[in-house]
Amino acid sequence: MKKITIAIDGHSSCGKSTMAKELARKVGYVYVDTGAMYRCVTLYALRHQLFTADGAVLEEQLREAMPQIDIDQRLIDGKTTTFLNGENVEREIRNLEVSNHVSPIAAIPFVRTALVAQQQKMGREGGIVMDGRDIGTTVFPNAELKIFVTASAEVRAQRRYDELQQKGMPADYADILKNVQERDYIDSHREVSPLRQADDALLLDNSHMTIDEQNKWLMEQFEKATK
Ligand code: DC
Repeated sequence: MKKITIAIDGHSSCGKSTMAKELARKVGYVYVDTGAMYRCVTLYALRHQLFTADGAVLEEQLREAMPQIDIDQRLIDGKTTTFLNGENVEREIRNLEVSNHVSPIAAIPFVRTALVAQQQKMGREGGIVMDGRDIGTTVFPNAELKIFVTASAEVRAQRRYDELQQKGMPADYADILKNVQERDYIDSHREVSPLRQADDALLLDNSHMTIDEQNKWLMEQFEKATK
């Protein structure tokens, strides 16, 4: 069977990665979490003091540092795990400090150009499920299957809260909701590759769907696209 490219875009914390990972596992495709790549650049910038006190990015220093930022995703015990310069940062890139600083990093054109080029290289052979914000519009405009996922901000904040609680990480619902709403705004209003549904993407609002229901729906779309 022909191996296709699957682009899954949408708002933050809407369950994109859960469904994308599950589909990749079931059909034996490679899964790439592009949000994790922007988070790695953010973590690097935080560790190297590349933010001013008011949260602006020191862009010239970051531009110089970009060639030293090596990002890699590997399957460890069946779980996609992100490495920054050889260090497992899967847990650290999900914390609220990184979440609060990632949007300005993802709005920098040279950061996007570098990461998009890496993503296109990873997906050259097809057989890939990639999740992000601009996969169907910019990274793989010719992807055979494009999905745009959304859910209400309140539902998404509750899901992220539950996830952090489960991992034993500190979480405050009001802070998380604020972060979700701020990121929605910045992600949809930035100049370079703003978050938007590709014209040929299928829309999935999963506010009132269970994980099983959305996995089943996605599998049906995959079967149609590969028929
Ligand atoms: O999916 P996530 O929440 O881990 O993404 C983190 C941030 O990275 C989010 O604010 C949007 C940005 N992002 C992006 O601009 N383009 C992508 N392809 C993926 C993520």
